[in-house]
Amino acid sequence: MNSLPSFDRFDVIVLGAGGAGLMCAATAGQRGRRVLLVDHSPEPGRKILISGGGRCNFTNIGAGPANYLSANPHFMKSALSRYTPADFVALVERHGIAWHEKTLGQLFCDGSARQIVAMLVAECDRGLVEWQLGAPLGEIDHADGHFRVGVAGRMVEAPALVIATGGPSIPKLGATGFAYDLARRFGLKVVEPRPALVPLTLPAEEALFRELSGVATPVTASCGKAVFREAALFTHRGLSGPAILQVSSHWRHGQEIGIDFLPGETPGWLRSAKRERPRGALPTLLKERLPDRLAERLSERLGLGGDLGNQPDRALEAAEQRLSDWRFRPNGSEGFAKAEVTVGGIATAGLSSQTMEARGVAGLYAIGEAVDVTGWLGGYNFQWAWASGWAAGQAL
Ligand code: FDA
Repeated sequence: MNSLPSFDRFDVIVLGAGGAGLMCAATAGQRGRRVLLVDHSPEPGRKILISGGGRCNFTNIGAGPANYLSANPHFMKSALSRYTPADFVALVERHGIAWHEKTLGQLFCDGSARQIVAMLVAECDRGLVEWQLGAPLGEIDHADGHFRVGVAGRMVEAPALVIATGGPSIPKLGATGFAYDLARRFGLKVVEPRPALVPLTLPAEEALFRELSGVATPVTASCGKAVFREAALFTHRGLSGPAILQVSSHWRHGQEIGIDFLPGETPGWLRSAKRERPRGALPTLLKERLPDRLAERLSERLGLGGDLGNQPDRALEAAEQRLSDWRFRPNGSEGFAKAEVTVGGIATAGLSSQTMEARGVAGLYAIGEAVDVTGWLGGYNFQWAWASGWAAGQAL
């Protein structure tokens, strides 16, 4: 075999310069490893740049294993406990980036998400990481304990290869299912990937609700055992808003979701209203609690016309029950084109939770969204990217 020029040999090749790959490359580089970071996109961290409305919700101060979905709910414990939200905040502060808590423990930059990318690039530079951006990946081989990767017309090799190419959500940003194909080639299993944190679509029978496009209201949304109290938004195709995005990660085709439109209301409130305001009407009562257009549509659906005083208690109880658990049966989601993340991915059973190294292939690692670990909405996904990238970076 021809020996390769020395500059084409590295200690580590990291595939994917998103949040996880950048953190991993910086960590390994600063530990003295010679790292090559490769991405087919011309710039690193494209999802970071568009995240959080351009301000990047870079972590959540409450991030813990309970905020993640995975076939193994324990897998993320080790990495999350060794690289915490406080560790990332300390890094952000070392770089002089101002931040604030928006709501529910979600931390955002005061300025721009660009600051987070610039910070991670600077950390990579501190670790003398070498870059190869904007070129498609070629062949990938593994022999004699070394990985050989075709990059921009040359072969590079290293004893360690990190899969950090994310999941297929938002293909127009360069997202692909490449991680899964590569993992399968090395004998790793892949948990069926599905779009998550994604708007849900409603069938034609629910057209009444589509007329509410643009209306938002605080609700409690549920799907099976998953329950989230946040805002829901009606769209021209169905349902969105944080509460719906959260339940979408748990939703499967054919399942119903439930919405409590009046989460703060005490049970029996409608019967009490009947006694207190017998001449009152349901639409008026609902308009005091909900946006007008939504109150009108819900009243129409409930079909309780006329004075409350003329309604039997049973009918009011039934209406109250329906308002607190309105059932919708979505006919789909807006798919990977609109999904913020992917549920599923490289099966954790084949990886070490300490190091992210594949159990059966020495030197092969998988981190970030490519792995079957998916966070809730609210900074949890980046925290997983940082923590899993850091865990691998420490082991390389
Ligand atoms: P990521 O997808 O970021 O990076 C993978 C990299 O691999 C990309 O740079 C890609 O170009 C590259 N790649 C893919 N295929 C390749 C191939 N075949 N060859 C070479 N390179 C390849 N999370 C959060 O915590 N807070 C937030 O505010 C948001 N906001 C948000 C908004 C939007 C619109 C989206 C789409 C997503 C979010 N997220 C989020 C989720 C978050 O962006 C996501 O979980 C992380 O970016 C995942 O980081 P990774 O590094 O694992 O993958």
